[in-house]
Amino acid sequence: MERSRIVAANWKMNVLPSEAKTLAGQVARALPIKNVEVIICPPFTHLFSLMPFQSESLKIGAQNCNENLFGAHTGDISAQMLKDLGCSYVIIGHSERRARQSTENARISAKIHAALQAGLKPIYCCGEGLPIREKEAHIEFVKDQLESDLATLQKEHIEEIVIAYEPVWAIGTGKNASPEQAQEMHASIRKWLSARFGNDLSIQTQILYGGSVKAVNALALAKQNDIDGFLVGGASLNVDEFMKIVHSVSESAND
Ligand code: PGA
Repeated sequence: MERSRIVAANWKMNVLPSEAKTLAGQVARALPIKNVEVIICPPFTHLFSLMPFQSESLKIGAQNCNENLFGAHTGDISAQMLKDLGCSYVIIGHSERRARQSTENARISAKIHAALQAGLKPIYCCGEGLPIREKEAHIEFVKDQLESDLATLQKEHIEEIVIAYEPVWAIGTGKNASPEQAQEMHASIRKWLSARFGNDLSIQTQILYGGSVKAVNALALAKQNDIDGFLVGGASLNVDEFMKIVHSVSESAND
């Protein structure tokens, strides 16, 4: 079965609100690209102004949400608020948040439930750090993350989820996982999904790779059987570079 492809831009804490429409507009004008859905995930402050760019081929997502529907959580944003604004996706469990917020790991499952309840599609991030990779414990480590973050979900939830494998040692370092390293992990994630939720769901779940994806390495990664697209950080801030990545993913889908 051919899974549809996704390239998601994670702008992180970059781009000013006054610059966001220009950057998103350049991406929007370069779409649609065959077989690829593009998602832009800007900072919260830019979401409202980017909603008019949403289309069949371009969706807008947030970079995080709180696990509660509303209440006394100063400085936080709920999934319902994002949905009401018009967002389609929300990134949950990015390693930069897992590393810097001590309670983040324990909240991920609840955040996924909140996002799904609000009608958002979670882009759920998992991935190991360098010490784990060096010990060759990466497969087990990511399986444990999946168990603690996704095991309470029902089959119909998994249908709405996009998984992003992002090895921490590859994020923002310029050192991407090799196609073989990424494929090994993506196949293992799919195997875990199959054991937990059945083969049909595992086959239809989109699994993205993230970590120093650039125009030069995108095609080789995208050609791997279990890689269905990318979550792109740094390279998503340059339209030419980003669109080359989108084209590579499109090309790999046509193979
Ligand atoms: P990078 O970031 O492409 O800059 O490595 C990816 C991510 O953190 O999602």
